[in-house]
Amino acid sequence: MTEGKKLALLGRAELQSLKDVFASQIGDLYDAENRLAQALPKMVDAAGSAALKQAFEYHLSETEGHVSRLETILRQIKVEPKRDACEVVKWLIAKGEETIRTTSDLNVKDGALIAGARRVQQYGIAGYGTACKIAQQLGLIEAASLLQQTLNEEVAADLELNQIAESSTAAAPGGRAPDHVRTADRRTFYLGRFRFYLGQK
Ligand SMILES: [Fe+2]
Repeated sequence: MTEGKKLALLGRAELQSLKDVFASQIGDLYDAENRLAQALPKMVDAAGSAALKQAFEYHLSETEGHVSRLETILRQIKVEPKRDACEVVKWLIAKGEETIRTTSDLNVKDGALIAGARRVQQYGIAGYGTACKIAQQLGLIEAASLLQQTLNEEVAADLELNQIAESSTAAAPGGRAPDHVRTADRRTFYLGRFRFYLGQK
């Protein structure tokens, strides 16, 4: 791998200020979210269990909101909404599409879809968490608030995917949301558990 390619994986090659780092991170997340928005409808169709299908459908609507928030932030920092190719999410989505094409057993397919989706979630959680901290350092209060809102949704989505993966075995740490409640309420429940374990209010 060339040095230029390595740098491209981390964002824009020329970073001369913290604002450049911030713009690079937002550009990377913008590409990742757009790729995910395109991939999620296929994941909804491919999911075998109703719970996983519903979780992907819900996350598609959230993801469209995440794209919109990133566009707002790019406008605020006066950066053209440019997508920096996110090679990590691109690769994970390609692996997911391969799974959808080649796996017929629905349980196996669901397991592989959850594994890939959780990796994408963890990438987003790391990216949004970092971008939020940088926004705070730059005094970009509104951007930090938007990034925190998305971060909370990414965490809740990841916790729900974890719960779906565990639903046939043990209950998740902190208990399990009742099955009959709506996805939005389940997300609130899981995020509440997450904050409880972090000692947050
Ligand atoms: Fe997202």
